[in-house]
Amino acid sequence: MKRVLSGIQPSGDLHLGNYFGMMSRMIKNQEENDLFCFIVNYHALTTIQDKDRLAMNTLNAAMDFMALGLDPDKSTFWIQSDVPQVCESTWLLSNIVNVGLLDRATSYKDKLAKGITANVGLYSYPILMASDILLFGGEIVPVGKDQKQHIEMTRDMAIRFNNIFGEVFIVPEADIEKDTPLVLGMDGQKMSKSYGNTIPIFGAEKDIRKKFMSIVTDSTEIDEPKDINTPLFQLYSLFLNDSDREELSHRFATPGMRYGDVKQELFETFWTQFEPSRKKREYLTRHKDFVLQKLKEGAEKAATVAESYLTKARKAMGLNYGEVNV
Ligand code: ADP
Ligand code: TRP
Repeated sequence: MKRVLSGIQPSGDLHLGNYFGMMSRMIKNQEENDLFCFIVNYHALTTIQDKDRLAMNTLNAAMDFMALGLDPDKSTFWIQSDVPQVCESTWLLSNIVNVGLLDRATSYKDKLAKGITANVGLYSYPILMASDILLFGGEIVPVGKDQKQHIEMTRDMAIRFNNIFGEVFIVPEADIEKDTPLVLGMDGQKMSKSYGNTIPIFGAEKDIRKKFMSIVTDSTEIDEPKDINTPLFQLYSLFLNDSDREELSHRFATPGMRYGDVKQELFETFWTQFEPSRKKREYLTRHKDFVLQKLKEGAEKAATVAESYLTKARKAMGLNYGEVNV
């Protein structure tokens, strides 16, 4: 049994890209592994500076995760800021990180290129992320390709710390799913909040149906075969097993298929698949106290692990002045 750990930012409505790329993989892990999963609201502070939005997004993300199947009794599930020990370990790690390492972070460079004025939080984001992993003894970290460099930086920090101060931290490994395609948005680009092309998992039926109906298609005539290297085929495939996918590709190859019908059908498939999660989500919305209680228990479990690593790290660095003989 391995400790599998990952976090997600509460930066807006969770979408199908988040679900197929990260959340469903995490949820599967709770069955055979020791799953640690959290909502990274400290990280979100680097970009969200609106208290109502951040607080609302955080609670919504937690409820979404639980509605989609994350079981807080099988895993350790918490809100990052409920275990503030990660801030202390971020400071400890800051002292072994060269600024050159942070200068090379591609996600930071990308944000600068987009014209975002970087605050120090954004710059040191990878150190907080390393803390998230090292302080809880994460062994395997499932993330999307965009996070690969952050995990490499975390490994660097763990190795460097252990070399200087003695073995304290586990050196984690990234688990980058090769088979999970990048989920495409309605416009055919990567589905992402920043491109405004996302299909949310929860929301009003009418609005979501409209999103599915707006998936881009080409102008192939009805009596011509259709291309399967398209966002419509790719999105539909996510919901199908191998034989159903095979059948869909046969339908695409056969003249007579109408894109509009396929989009309707895809919407119905989506709506049916998420029906139980929607019911659960409604229940959780009405039982906020239950959610808060589970998050509190999760934070307590996580804090016990964090305290034990932090105590070792403090001692290894010489912050335990009371224990020395003068
Ligand atoms: P966004 O791009 O919408 O801001 P995030 O960067 O917050 O999404 O991603 C949260 C998690 O979901 C990450 O693990 C990321 O790799 C995964 N993810 C996001 N979008 C996609 C996508 N289109 N396809 C696959 N995985 C995705
Ligand atoms: N940076 C990650 C993202 O944007 C979120 C994250 C924060 C994370 N801390 C983590 C992921 C620790 C894995 C492990 O997707």
